[in-house]
Amino acid sequence: MILPAGDFSVHDEAVMKPYLEKLGTGTYLEIGVKHGRSLAFARHNAPKAKIYGVDVEDVLDHEYFKDIDVNFIHQHADEAAKKWKKPIDLLFIDGDHSVEQVNHDIENWQQFVKKGGYLFFHDFDITSPGVIMAVDDYCEYRGKILKVFRHSTLGLKTSIVMVKK
Ligand SMILES: C[S@@+](CC[C@H](N)C(=O)[O-])C[C@H]1O[C@@H](n2cnc3c(N)ncnc32)[C@H](O)[C@@H]1O
Repeated sequence: MILPAGDFSVHDEAVMKPYLEKLGTGTYLEIGVKHGRSLAFARHNAPKAKIYGVDVEDVLDHEYFKDIDVNFIHQHADEAAKKWKKPIDLLFIDGDHSVEQVNHDIENWQQFVKKGGYLFFHDFDITSPGVIMAVDDYCEYRGKILKVFRHSTLGLKTSIVMVKK
């Protein structure tokens, strides 16, 4: 499977694949699309799901996606959340990694994640302390950390935390 360039490693793929395959006709939304690497991976592994990606910049690889059915929302995540109404089965957060913005992403978007649905956070490691702080705060009150995935070889890493609503 050829994917656009981006910050989503083969280790990330191995983590996300089983959860995408279980999505069925559910809804996947990601914050932080960039050129669309993780978005395309979601599309290919959840062929019947509705796939949405939100990014404040438009650097999406439009040529790659010209015949691929994804919904790209070119907006700041805070603005996009104001208009969003649908339930989400799997929320993948990989936008601005500052503690302030990850807190906003959680506050604004977790309400749409179905009970029993999943929030995944990319870069849950020392390179992104804001992600760790925001996820810890959220889990103290409402969520439940199910698993932290960390793996690194040949300069490629994964550090994803999975939280169940
Ligand atoms: C680490 S990159 C995402 C990588 C992508 N998931 C991939 O597979 O390559 C982070 C992206 O988040 C976007 N971003 C940063 N702050 C944002 C915000 N407040 N709302 C929406 N997108 C944001 C950036 O424009 C950037 O494209």
